[in-house]
Amino acid sequence: MTTMRAQRSATGATSAAKGAVLVAERVEMTFVSPDSSLEALAEATVALAPNEFVSIIGPSGCGKSTLLRILAGLVRPTGGRVLLHGQPLTHPHRQIGVVFQHANLMPWRSALRNVTLPLEIQGIAADIAERRGREMLELVGLADFADALPRDLSGGMRQRVALARALVHDPEVLLLDEPFGALDALTRERMNWELLRIWEARRKTVLMVTHDIQEAIFTSDRVLVMTARPGHIRAEVAIDLPRPRSPEDLYSPRFMELSHTLRDLLR
Ligand SMILES: Nc1ncnc2c1ncn2[C@@H]1O[C@H](COP(=O)(O)OP(=O)(O)OP(=O)(O)O)[C@@H](O)[C@H]1O
Ligand SMILES: [Mg+2]
Repeated sequence: MTTMRAQRSATGATSAAKGAVLVAERVEMTFVSPDSSLEALAEATVALAPNEFVSIIGPSGCGKSTLLRILAGLVRPTGGRVLLHGQPLTHPHRQIGVVFQHANLMPWRSALRNVTLPLEIQGIAADIAERRGREMLELVGLADFADALPRDLSGGMRQRVALARALVHDPEVLLLDEPFGALDALTRERMNWELLRIWEARRKTVLMVTHDIQEAIFTSDRVLVMTARPGHIRAEVAIDLPRPRSPEDLYSPRFMELSHTLRDLLR
């Protein structure tokens, strides 16, 4: 049996948002240039409950990255609003860590010094920042690579450094934009596994944008499906696979069934 429901009505979404950590409420985004305007998002509503792992899938260009940037407080929507614990969010907040599709590391800084950068900017004492940075590198399995420069790390390792950097403030919310999109299938599976391990150890609220249905099902409590642009959430599929997940889940009949449901919704 498939658990699927359409997006709640706007009012329903608002009441469901009570107790939510982070909410995008009927968010709209229109990009205006001198000779054209482009409607990227139309009344997109997302509410993340504490410790939930939610994924968003949708066609290319439907506004997923735009929605994630709005939820991160990096971009102001042209309509609707974002609430962090019920308070309007208008700027990046240290309770929200973000990982983009490309690691965006500083090429001249070591892995450790990339991870400690947000703490340095904040004026945290160097010895405390270093201790914290090393802890984070250990968490993502890179303790032995603290002094390596980004160019000497593999793509998967660079993404792990970016993840460690996003986690260094111990944010409550982690927003991930196709963090493993550029990796080969096996490395990606391993990274999903690592991400779940970190999520289980640190109990974060996670929202991950992905193109990969398997990755979305394997990691998430719920998968949100977006429409083509202007994007909004057209359906939500509850992932009722037991936790902790195991690589064997990928071959279970229920996993296949959920994959079919999501594939049909994306068509
Ligand atoms: N800063 C911007 N100025 C103008 N248009 C933009 C801007 N950012 C995004 N867009 C447009 O908004 C639409 C949604 O873009 P967005 O990057 O959010 O899509 P996406 O769903 O993340 O796509 P993909 O799956 O390919 O990453 C696209 O048509 C894009 O061209
Ligand atoms: Mg994108």
